[in-house]
Formats: sequence, structure tokens, C-alpha cells
Amino acid sequence: MQSLLILGRQPALGLAELESLYGADVVHPVERSAALLDIEPTAVDFNRLGGSIKLAKVLTVLDTTDWRKIEDYLLKSSPKHAEQLPDGKMQLGLSVYGLRVTPQHLLATGLSLKKAIKQTGRSVRLTPNKELELNSASVIHNNLTGPTGWELLFVRSGNQTVVAQTVQVQNIDSYTVRDRDRPKRDARVGMLPPKLAQIIINLAVSKSDITKGVYLLDPFCGTGVILQEASLMGIDVYGTDIEPRMVEYTDENMMWLLKQPESPVQRPSEYEADPSWRYFKAEVGDATTHQWAPIPRVIASETYLGKPFTSAPSNEALNQTASDCNLIIKKFLVNVRTQLPRGARLCLAIPAWQIGRGQFKHLPVLDSLRELGYNRISFEHARDSELIYFREDQIVARELLILEKL
Ligand SMILES: C[S@@+](CC[C@H](N)C(=O)[O-])C[C@H]1O[C@@H](n2cnc3c(N)ncnc32)[C@H](O)[C@@H]1O
Repeated sequence: MQSLLILGRQPALGLAELESLYGADVVHPVERSAALLDIEPTAVDFNRLGGSIKLAKVLTVLDTTDWRKIEDYLLKSSPKHAEQLPDGKMQLGLSVYGLRVTPQHLLATGLSLKKAIKQTGRSVRLTPNKELELNSASVIHNNLTGPTGWELLFVRSGNQTVVAQTVQVQNIDSYTVRDRDRPKRDARVGMLPPKLAQIIINLAVSKSDITKGVYLLDPFCGTGVILQEASLMGIDVYGTDIEPRMVEYTDENMMWLLKQPESPVQRPSEYEADPSWRYFKAEVGDATTHQWAPIPRVIASETYLGKPFTSAPSNEALNQTASDCNLIIKKFLVNVRTQLPRGARLCLAIPAWQIGRGQFKHLPVLDSLRELGYNRISFEHARDSELIYFREDQIVARELLILEKL
């Protein structure tokens, strides 16, 4: 059975993440905002995905994109489906992606469907559509993924429509707790959203790494968001930062995480057998000179991003900060290369500066990666130029650079 994923605000990031975790062959982009995956929904580790907002199981593919025909199909087939749900009030919701229908028409379809199901003796509550897509909060709060819940997704795929049922949505409350409730935050080093941290980690951990134990290093760990998210995935983590205060913050944040209900208290048995083993390690270190021990096989990091410009900087200021960042990142790549095993993989969020609408100034180090001994990894389903996380009004964007040691 195939899964359908609805991708986040920057779909290319979600596609690259899926490709990194599951391989290019099983990922099939659908229009702009979704992807089909040749994997059962139960085998998709949805909680670790930062770039997908809904996971659904594919029910059928219709040979039409005409909403009236889709509506006819729904009215005929849904009452039968409703009979198979457990007893209780049915929670119904509809979301449409890429099809020509208005929210008003969609709401009318929902009401007709509700009526048709009610005629079978079943009580139904419809979550009304203000827009074509129900958001994650609405799906959660209306219990649409519960035992009697039924959110149907309709996604245009060329001349066809994929019909799927949502099984999981991004847990926004959990992200908020992880982001806002940590004891130590620091606006100066920037606020890396946990979702982006997950994407960075998933781009660093290749498909074959999923089942093996990996040790992940963040050499610019700051307050530890990447370490926190990797730890929640059950990955052992190691963080270093040049500033002692940041290392203390990371320590405190990681201890806090341990006490949270979703912290990975279930550790692999080999670690439980060794009492000196800590599931994370944090120490002070200058990434341009530090010797890491143990040697990590995977690196996921948001590097130094330079000045946090909030308005367009002068050319001089921009060139100066770009040159400062470039030097640190280049020296780091030279230093760490001598310590990494061949084939080790890195995903670095490095700065790029938005100098015009969707136009970026990139770090010069991007042009000398081969000389430095790295191969830049590209993706089949996302272009390198799309792997930049930014908001329209932001000057400092984060370019995701995925490397492999040659
Ligand atoms: C953009 S912040 C990373 C924030 C981090 N992702 C977090 O969760 O808070 C960059 C970090 O790099 C650190 N840094 C700057 N230069 C460094 C260097 N040469 N070696 C190691 N860390 C450095 C800064 O102290 C800062 O904490």
C-alpha cells in the first residue's frame, strides 16, 4: 500500500528529506505539495519528519480531476465505508490540493456526504472548510485521525486524483513545547525551528544509516536544538561550541529533555550495559581546530551564520560577514576532514543572504568543495538551489549543504 505525504511550506525540503531517508526510487512527487511513497504508512517514521505535515494512506486513484465526478464517487462509496468504522460519532473532514473547486463547494460536498452517511443511521460531525485544506491544528482538535475520524485528502496528480485518508498529522503542540519550553534559549545565536533541525538531521543520516547505530556530531551546537531532535530520534549525540556558555545551555536543555514524556528513555541495551556511557556529550571546542573523540560518522549542524541582519545591509557589511563565515566554515571543513572516515556524511545549514526576491548571495566555499575533499550530494527530487530555508522577509537564509567525505 502506498503512503501519501503532504509537504510543508517549502516542498523541496520535504522531498529531499524523504529521498534521503527512503531512497529516490520510492518517492514520487505529486504536483507541488505532496509525494507518494511506495511504503506502508505504518512503516513511515512520521514523527521524525520535519518537512511533511500530513501522512495518509492511499485509498484509490480516480481517473478524473472534475470535482463533480469526484463528489459523485464519494457519495456512492462513503456510506459503505462508514459502516466499517467502530461505533460512535463519526468525525469527517475534507482537504483538497491542486483541484479546481471552491471552499464553498467543498463545504457543500461535505454536507451532502454527512447527509448520505447519516441516512445509514450513523451520527456524523463535519469539520467545516474555511479553506480547501484543513490545517494540522484543525485535524487534531476535531479528532479526525481518531478511531472514528475520517479526513479525506484529494490530491491532483496530472489527469488523476489521489484519494487518501489521513493517519497522522504534525504534532504542533509537541513542536511548540520543544521550541518554547526549553530552559535555555538565546535569540542572539538564532532560533533554529525543531522542524528544520529534523530536516537537517534527516539529510545527514542516509537511508542505510537508519538501522545502524550512528553517532551524530553538531560542532556549532549553540543551545542544542539539533542534538535535542536527534536524541528524540534515538540517535546518540555529541555537541561542541566555542562558547562555554552555549555548552552549559546545551547541557541544561538536554537534561530537561530527558525529563519530558517523549524523551528517549529506552536506550539500546549495549549502552545500558556501560554505566559510564552518556547518551549525549557536550564540550567546549573551536570547530576550526578541535579534535573530536569519539570520532563521529555523521555531522548535522547549523554553523555560524554571521550578523543577524534585520534590514538590507551595506555591501561592505555583507561582504565582511560573508567573508567571516566563509573563513570559519572552510577552516572547519579542513579540520574535520582529517578526522572523518571516508564516506562520512555532513549536512550543514550555512548562511546565504537574500539580496533580491528569491535571489541569494552564497558562500564562496561552495566553489571549492572538491578541492577540500568533499563531494556535494544532490537529490533527484529537489534542486540544490531549492535547498534554502527562508521566509520572504528574511535577509539571512539557511542553505542546506549535504556533503560526503571523499
Ligand atoms: C547559529 S548558532 C547555532 C545555534 C544552534 N543551532 C542552536 O540550537 O542554538 C552558531 C553557533 O556557532 C558557535 N560558533 C561560532 N564560531 C565557532 C567556532 N569557531 N567553533 C565552534 N562554534 C562556533 C556560536 O557560539 C553559536 O553558538
